[in-house]
Amino acid sequence: MTTFDPIIRLDNVSKCYLNGVLALQSVSLTINPGEFVFLVGPSGSGKSTLLRLLLRDERVTTGRIFVAGHNLLRIQPGAIPQFRRRIGVVFQDYKLLPRLTAFENVAFALRVHGFHDARAIRERTIAVLELVGLRAQADRYPATLSGGEQQRVSVARALVTGPDMLLADEPTGNLDPDNALAIAELLDQINTFGTTVVVATHNRDLVDKFRRRVLQLDQGKLVRDEESGGYTLALAATGDSLGESTLPLDGRRPLTLPEGSR
Ligand SMILES: Nc1ncnc2c1ncn2[C@@H]1O[C@H](COP(=O)(O)OP(=O)(O)OP(=O)(O)O)[C@@H](O)[C@H]1O
Ligand SMILES: [Mg+2]
Repeated sequence: MTTFDPIIRLDNVSKCYLNGVLALQSVSLTINPGEFVFLVGPSGSGKSTLLRLLLRDERVTTGRIFVAGHNLLRIQPGAIPQFRRRIGVVFQDYKLLPRLTAFENVAFALRVHGFHDARAIRERTIAVLELVGLRAQADRYPATLSGGEQQRVSVARALVTGPDMLLADEPTGNLDPDNALAIAELLDQINTFGTTVVVATHNRDLVDKFRRRVLQLDQGKLVRDEESGGYTLALAATGDSLGESTLPLDGRRPLTLPEGSR
């Protein structure tokens, strides 16, 4: 693959679960490196299924799927951990380890991914906690952090390995509007570093505010693929530009974190 190839490509992908539910039907799409995409659609429309296929947590039933240079139908099981290292994942319920501090949760992700040098792990973990605005909370346990702070730790954990792509499934689902906006701005900032970001969401306000590419699913079918879209097509058609990203989009620069030795 050259750098001009899409980072995600689905050709006619369908997913039928073992219970017979057809969760995705003939979905074709491409996402290029560096894009920011909102994935919307009603509950049960297939958003999480699509994210799980991208992670190779689930296999497609028919069709072809390519992610980060891998044909996911052909990828060998032994190559999957290495493949997943290139993808950061953020969930609605944070999934932090309760007995580890914020620092340890992030550092743990580095160890799992094969980093061993203690000093490099420390520097990198601190740099990422700094990036998400949680340097001062590094030694706190998840139970002592607010929901917004816990989600920022989980974003830090997803970022710390320097992934090409960040997949977020309802990352603001448990957050109040201010914290939801803060997380969305963080994801937007990460995208300005060049990381591809795909966010499944029901958060109408954020989709309408950020005006990014919108992929909409309905009953497993891709029914809309719109640049600078709103949460619904009707809103987009009004031409109403409800605010722009509050972050400057110029000056895209690489995410500079200390290199870790493995
Ligand atoms: N592991 C599974 N086994 C069987 N069916 C499943 C499984 N996971 C999801 N489904 C079904 O597949 C369809 C799509 O589900 P999915 O979780 O992808 O929807 P979603 O768009 O993420 O919904 P929500 O907005 O509620 O999170 C639904 O009908 C769901 O019941
Ligand atoms: Mg879901």
